[in-house]
Amino acid sequence: MEDIARLKKQAALKALTFVEDDMLLGLGTGSTTAFFIDALGAALREGRLQGIRGVPTSEATAARARELGIPLVSLSQVEYLDLAVDGADEVDPQWNLIKGLGRALLREKIVEIHARRFLVIVDDSKLVQRLGRGPLPVEIVPFEAEATVRWLNTLDCQADFWYEEDGSRVVTDNGNYLALCRFPEGIADAYALARALADRPGVVEHGLFLDMATGVISAGRDGVRVLERER
Ligand code: A5P
Repeated sequence: MEDIARLKKQAALKALTFVEDDMLLGLGTGSTTAFFIDALGAALREGRLQGIRGVPTSEATAARARELGIPLVSLSQVEYLDLAVDGADEVDPQWNLIKGLGRALLREKIVEIHARRFLVIVDDSKLVQRLGRGPLPVEIVPFEAEATVRWLNTLDCQADFWYEEDGSRVVTDNGNYLALCRFPEGIADAYALARALADRPGVVEHGLFLDMATGVISAGRDGVRVLERER
């Protein structure tokens, strides 16, 4: 297995040790979380865990969980989640995150805001001093989307639609477009940027997950580190 994939799997397997019988789980999206979902499915199948129910953050995660026999519920049926587990694209020293390069940021945020504990699982290449090393995904409504992207370009970034290889625009599970904002100097003030994005009509949600993570599990060549705090 490729080195990065091996580290992602190590972080995911460590997260499984936080799961207890009868927990309600938020199930994230992406390649790191896929290792977690696979391990959770195996633990249920082998009777090492029981009574687990999950709320998926994307159609892809829902499909994978169903294949593995992980019971799924919706937030309309449960008030809160005991634990959410998900990957991230960037994690800064305050555990603020950029997420969404797996295209699922809106559902991830809706689900993860309901979790009492939110564990982020990453390989240590995702750890950054300042957010914005890579692009920030922003989900926008298709109506007058060009005007929204034009406005995004006023935020000290270079923004464009996210395109598929065939040149079509990436469309999310929610039928919206994604824009990618690249900040040449990184993001100077993530809180101010999050407020500006949240206030803008046409922007549905953005990939800044601020003050949400209660724990980070990062796997590196020198081992797996687990850090946790109260929400
Ligand atoms: C999904 O939309 C994202 O938020 C992922 O959690 C993030 O992109 C990390 O993905 P990988 O685990 O595939 O690196």
